[in-house]
Amino acid sequence: MTPAVGQPMDRVDGRPKVTGSARFSAEIPLPGMAYAALVGAHIASGRITSIDAREAEAAEGVLAVLTHENTPPIVAQPPLIPSLAGTAAPGQTFFPLQDDVVHYAGQHIAVVVADTHERAQHAASLLHVRYAEEPSVTTLDQGRDLARVPEAIFGGFMPGRMSRGDLRKGMDEADVRLDVTFTYAANNHNPIEPPATTASWEGGELTLWDATQGVTSTQQTVAALLGLPVSRVRVVGHYTGGSFGGKAMIWHHPALAAIAARAVGRPVKLALTREQMFTSMGHREEQEQTITLAAAGDGRLTALRHHKLSPTSHFDEWAEPSLGVASQIYGCPHYEGEYRMFRANTMTPTFMRAPGEASGMFAMECAMDELAERLGMDPLELRLRNITAIDPMTGDPWSSWGLEECYRRGAERFGWAGRDPRPRSRREGHWLIGTGMASAGYPVAQPVTPQRARARLYADGTVLVQAATPDFGTGVATAMTQVAADALGLPVERCRFENGDTALPQIAAAVGSAGAGMISAAVHTAAAALRDALVARAVADAESPLHGADPKSVELRDGRMVLRDDPGTGETYAEMMHRQFLPDLEALGSWTPDPGANGHALMTFGAQFAEVAVDADLGLVRVRRMVGAFAPGRVLNPKTARSQLMGGMIWGLGQALLEANRMEARTGRWAASSLGDYLVAVNADAPDVEVELVEVEDTVVNPLGVKGVGEIGQVGAGAAIANAVHHATGRRVRKMPITVEDLL
Ligand code: MOS
Repeated sequence: MTPAVGQPMDRVDGRPKVTGSARFSAEIPLPGMAYAALVGAHIASGRITSIDAREAEAAEGVLAVLTHENTPPIVAQPPLIPSLAGTAAPGQTFFPLQDDVVHYAGQHIAVVVADTHERAQHAASLLHVRYAEEPSVTTLDQGRDLARVPEAIFGGFMPGRMSRGDLRKGMDEADVRLDVTFTYAANNHNPIEPPATTASWEGGELTLWDATQGVTSTQQTVAALLGLPVSRVRVVGHYTGGSFGGKAMIWHHPALAAIAARAVGRPVKLALTREQMFTSMGHREEQEQTITLAAAGDGRLTALRHHKLSPTSHFDEWAEPSLGVASQIYGCPHYEGEYRMFRANTMTPTFMRAPGEASGMFAMECAMDELAERLGMDPLELRLRNITAIDPMTGDPWSSWGLEECYRRGAERFGWAGRDPRPRSRREGHWLIGTGMASAGYPVAQPVTPQRARARLYADGTVLVQAATPDFGTGVATAMTQVAADALGLPVERCRFENGDTALPQIAAAVGSAGAGMISAAVHTAAAALRDALVARAVADAESPLHGADPKSVELRDGRMVLRDDPGTGETYAEMMHRQFLPDLEALGSWTPDPGANGHALMTFGAQFAEVAVDADLGLVRVRRMVGAFAPGRVLNPKTARSQLMGGMIWGLGQALLEANRMEARTGRWAASSLGDYLVAVNADAPDVEVELVEVEDTVVNPLGVKGVGEIGQVGAGAAIANAVHHATGRRVRKMPITVEDLL
């Protein structure tokens, strides 16, 4: 039987999604449903002096108006709210409706509950709020002088300052030095599905249907906020309509839905509006990065300095870790990195696809392109002279690498060889044509808690595999069906994966591209344990043809347990179970990664190539084609993996050319708050995108050697485009996104 892993199997959730039978969290029908509408603060800083709710309360169908004056206090006090790693999660250290202070525009200040969605929305507009406004700080220009270097960033996972070697020495050794500063607009998550929660109480038991990257995160956070034992909170999230990091942290609405449902004694549905998504689920922060590259005449980097400046909220020290991959991908001996941040009147920024890696590698890889030009060297050749088989920060070897092969295969497929390096050297009519490339890297994140799954075989020979994880569009349910089928020696048609429910074995929130690796480890472990239990029963059964055989000599072939050396001798699972009167048999699997990775550094590598056409008169940029080559370890399903990588690359295009938000300094509000103002790449923007999968074996990361594909597609994609824009036009635009105005 051909292994199912590695086959481009169609998505198991394709049919329910296309036919509409898939139920998302805002589509759960419950008797007596009430609807909640959120009201956001109109000011960015200050106090609420009064809220007059009389008109709203008198409106037709209104069941409750919750404000800081009547909302019961939350039980868990920040920063005690658990998260991904058991410590306070960024964005979860603040909870609204607890006092009259306004920290940012859009902060939830009231929840209006009514018997229909429309009535709740209407009543929300009838609230009369008075404020005492104070000056706000929201932009880089306002906060620059307030910035300082924090102890740690990114929820405490990364230090505020990093170094290796002796920067001064490295600068002195250099023949060439380059100082460049890049600026980045803020980005907002815009998955198709707005975040939504449906909450229902029965006695003291709470059930939430929540759109999330991790049902267990919602469960733990809401239980802590409301002071409930975790066992009294069940969270279901079968389908989540895209997330990209925006539904990784547990924002305020799931607990508010639970509080509202308790207040009105009815189930409550709470969905964010598109506009509220810009102020209620984090964002990628506006930032500025300065890079100094120092190199010897042969291109070898001697020193790298990388600084980042960004705003954080008043309650969390968040900066996306933009220095990470950029500090590790090349073997430069002398390094210094520093985050500077200042407190601003925004909500806490958060994970957004390739959080930090995409922005940091944009600066790094554009700077490398400038350095190549300065040295008169091919950009790809410059990278080849600097790559490293060991992590220069720790000295540990990569558990698997493949970067050179990514360059080679990507360059071949793209047709990089023979490129004329001179800017403006290619023209087609009024279009200037340019090509560019960049390296890509994304860390392999490992969970800190055990990942669990259960496999249950029924007497009809079908298997059910269960794990709590939602599938937020990644294809995890499909890939896990394949993993289970292989471990049990069954065809995929006889395997079913059930997921998205805290009643099932626990899986951490799938963040940092870790889902495929950690969930496949749990599923594989459970299914292999079940297979072993079945074989043990067969060899112990006097009536089995396998009776007395060494379990190690038994293998699975076409759904039968057979002797390896005598495949004619054996039986099916179903035959044995029937004889033993077993209705089913199940096994649990639990997997925890080796925290030291057996002395290895973990990273996924890739290479990006892009060709653009720039209208010489109008400055319009059209990306004509992109090629990405990636080495993500074992690919569970090449169809869903390719989709992930293509999606990442197209997001890189959006980041390079389209996606932007900025704060209005005067009001402290976002300039864009709809898909009309905030531009996301659509099909018409997407060029011909090719994905090349480079095989590397990884025996360290997890049982199947899966490094993940969720985010690396985006890393370097923007830099390849920016470098191509320079090649086409001769203009260095050191900002994201590059707009028409920059090229006029
Ligand atoms: Mo991903 S942006 O780490 O959820």
